[in-house]
Amino acid sequence: MSIIFKRKSVRKFKDEIVDDELITRLLKAGMQAPSSCNSQPWEFIVVSKPEDKIAISEMHQYAKAAANASHLIITIGNLNEAKVHRMIEQDLGACNENILLQATHEGLGAVWLGFHPIEDRTLKLKKYLEIPDYCIPFSVICVGWPLQDGDVKLRYDEAKVHYDRY
Ligand SMILES: Cc1cc2nc3c(=O)[nH]c(=O)nc-3n(C[C@H](O)[C@H](O)[C@H](O)COP(=O)(O)O)c2cc1C
Repeated sequence: MSIIFKRKSVRKFKDEIVDDELITRLLKAGMQAPSSCNSQPWEFIVVSKPEDKIAISEMHQYAKAAANASHLIITIGNLNEAKVHRMIEQDLGACNENILLQATHEGLGAVWLGFHPIEDRTLKLKKYLEIPDYCIPFSVICVGWPLQDGDVKLRYDEAKVHYDRY
């Protein structure tokens, strides 16, 4: 079965650091994503200092997993690089999913924490990480060695598929 069916969100991590080489592999996967006009408008901030991870974990109520992750990958959309601004969320979404799938492939755990487009979240992240105004702080991906193990529930639902017309 492909890696897609093995991926799940992991929010609890072992107290073990992930090698930089592995983080680079995740970034390579992210940058391999499709993007509108191949504009590749993504940039990343890799965060590993405990005080920074704790500060980010407190930026919203569903961001707690950031505190115990080995690394956080902040995915950012650079509006100066995007050829079609309105497509930037889709570009970054594809990039994020590639990172999550590569993490699964490496045996790592990861979870996507939503920031964009919720303004009070993105403003906090922007200020804390000194992200310039021409960039959108899109999301935070927590990465670490997974503490939990569990099955993935398959979601295929025939009722959601239409053929020829809705
Ligand atoms: C846009 C987006 C935002 C998300 N935001 C959060 C979040 O803030 N905190 C969190 O713990 N999980 C977050 N998630 C993970 C979802 O909760 C998770 O993907 C969903 O429950 C399905 O579970 P699975 O990833 O294990 O398949 C987010 C996922 C997406 C795609």
